Amino acid sequence: MTRDAERRPVGLGPLVDTPEPVTRTRETAASWLGAHVVRRAWLWRRELLLLGAVAAAALGPVAIAGHSGAWVRGAVAGAAAVVVAAAVAVGVPVLRRGLRAWLWAGRIRRRWDAACRWAGLATASARIPRVRSARACPAGERLMVRLPAGSSTADLEKAADRVAVALDVREVKVRRNPSSARFPEVDVVRSDPYRDSQGNPVSIVSPLADAARWDLWSGVPVGRDDLGQMVTVRLMGRNAIVGGEPEAGKSVAMSSFLAAACLDPAADIFAIDAKRVELSLWRHRLSAFVTTSIDDAIALVETLISDMDDRYEKLESDGLRNVTPDMGWRTKILAIDELRFFTAYPEKRSRDKFNLLLIDLVARCRAVGMAVLAGTQRPSSDVVPTSLRDIMGLRWAMRCATRDASDTILGAGWATEGYSAANIDAADRGIGLLLAEGGVPMRLKSAWLSDQEIARIVARGIECKGGAMT
Ligand SMILES: Nc1ncnc2c1ncn2[C@@H]1O[C@H](COP(=O)(O)OP(=O)(O)O)[C@@H](O)[C@H]1O
Ligand SMILES: [Mg+2]
Repeated sequence: MTRDAERRPVGLGPLVDTPEPVTRTRETAASWLGAHVVRRAWLWRRELLLLGAVAAAALGPVAIAGHSGAWVRGAVAGAAAVVVAAAVAVGVPVLRRGLRAWLWAGRIRRRWDAACRWAGLATASARIPRVRSARACPAGERLMVRLPAGSSTADLEKAADRVAVALDVREVKVRRNPSSARFPEVDVVRSDPYRDSQGNPVSIVSPLADAARWDLWSGVPVGRDDLGQMVTVRLMGRNAIVGGEPEAGKSVAMSSFLAAACLDPAADIFAIDAKRVELSLWRHRLSAFVTTSIDDAIALVETLISDMDDRYEKLESDGLRNVTPDMGWRTKILAIDELRFFTAYPEKRSRDKFNLLLIDLVARCRAVGMAVLAGTQRPSSDVVPTSLRDIMGLRWAMRCATRDASDTILGAGWATEGYSAANIDAADRGIGLLLAEGGVPMRLKSAWLSDQEIARIVARGIECKGGAMT
């Protein structure tokens, strides 16, 4: 054995973590107690505290009554105290939930502790990444852990598979915390939120399906992430592009944004759809609907640009730089499905004009309460101008045939970092990678709105906007 291998701490590590911990080569009685009794007791402290409280409630009255010889009365009073305390803890919902969550968090910490030791993550002073906070999610837990000095997020990432095996879960995902290297975020994924127990795909229900109205500025619920949590993204102040292979779920993904806009009485929706049938479901709530005519599409974008210019003029005269929700300006959304039909239109003059106008609109509309939402098959530079694609702040890549195609939507380099929509199973329609500027792509499955639900949303949208079906 080398000297380094001998220099392992035995039992509990030193009380104060130091870069040069005191180590022993042999176990002593005290260190054995430390490792096998004190550390265990510490991990079970919540349960022990609870047991202690029950024991105190039961034995307290016995001890007091025992002074005057009334042992039996004391025992009865002790039993009554335990029963009353238990009834209160179980009967009062807020206490019951609190107690359950408190014990759950203790259990999570205990399992995490064991898994990290199994995965060989203990530092020279026997410290492991500790759970600072844990949140239960439908398909697992989201933890914030505190790394011990001497380890790194990369170490934890490297050991993630071993931790997952020790925890007996589907996957453990580690993310760097941009604001503190010491506190990475860990997702413990226990089950597949996109499949039921028989392995069949499940549809994600959208809160928009039943909402009476919606405020676009508050964000749009678009789907559920790997942990089964609803993901809400902001469209205002950004523009969104959804890409992917045919039948991957682009139009479905766009429908959540449209539903939110539809239910916002202050929003006007303009639509261009070369396939006609996708956006025509919304036509009664649309302020303009263009199908395959590129001249109409150009005219619509020109109208929106002149509106945008008016808005900038007004902002300038008011000495403002941005539209904010409290200004009460109407929100304008331009939705374009099958974008490449127009951006790669065979006739060059119309195509160039459309592209120039759309780039101008996308580049400048963010500050004036307008947004563009586009869906397209693989947006490679020969069909969608790079300068248009690159200024979309929100990118959503549904399944793609190749890693390159995924990178064309998310941006160069993401596939190399492990974020490629080509890895999505063809059977998993609606699953994609969503990237909001500045972040890391997030895997999620889009919410599904049936045609009937869309019809009801449109009817409610018209009603809350105070109009009639057109
Ligand atoms: N989130 C989803 N949940 C369930 N099924 C979906 C989902 N997204 C897509 N699908 C299925 O995939 C089909 C194709 O979706 P669609 O959005 O029309 O594809 P694209 O616009 O990419 O060609 C839909 O008709 C639907 O059956
Ligand atoms: Mg489509």
